[in-house]
Amino acid sequence: MADDTATPQDAIALLKADHRAVEGLFGEFEGLSDPTDKMGVADRICLALRVHTQIEEEIFYPALRGHIEEKEIDEAVVEHRSAKALISEIEAAGGADAMFDARVQVLKEQIESHVKEEETELFPAAKRAGLDLKDLGAKLAERKATLLRDYRSDLSDLRAAAEHPSFRPESAGGMQPGETGGEAARTASADGSKTSGLQPDQDTPGGAGAGPKESDQVKGRSAAPG
Ligand SMILES: [Fe+2]
Ligand SMILES: [Fe+2]
Repeated sequence: MADDTATPQDAIALLKADHRAVEGLFGEFEGLSDPTDKMGVADRICLALRVHTQIEEEIFYPALRGHIEEKEIDEAVVEHRSAKALISEIEAAGGADAMFDARVQVLKEQIESHVKEEETELFPAAKRAGLDLKDLGAKLAERKATLLRDYRSDLSDLRAAAEHPSFRPESAGGMQPGETGGEAARTASADGSKTSGLQPDQDTPGGAGAGPKESDQVKGRSAAPG
């Protein structure tokens, strides 16, 4: 995923660049055999997709409403939900086993189909509608930068805390004896990502300011999971 938001892009160019970046990550995943490397790339896929689906749902899809059949956008949102359920499973996986690979493969297939529909139906509709794609692109880029910063900060905080030998949350549910830091971190990050990601029943477009609130939720969960 292109992180650089300094160059202004119109909305469609930005979203297409995201699509190509995620496709590249799926390709990278397929070439790997080391479980740790696979989990690292899968994490990047999940992060990229969480941010991408969120900016589409918050900014791009609402802008399209009224310019395309409602069912097209509703279907796209349902496809996002399906993808996010798989993303949560991938994030929660304790290791890159056969089911892990299967989940990543199915996610890839779902995303390929979804991206095709966006690029052949939704994006052309946005162009036909005469939307201000430069302005939309700036809004998408700004929100994307905020979300990436917040998600990464949440993940690094959780992992640093879980890997610290003296990490002993006062409340119940912290790292258990015999549990490795990596596993604890992964569990925490998966839980946190689920919390900070758009929830299945959260289809109302969010607004500015959601980031810090989500961040607090994740940190709260890390101290008192469950
Ligand atoms: Fe999408
Ligand atoms: Fe998309």
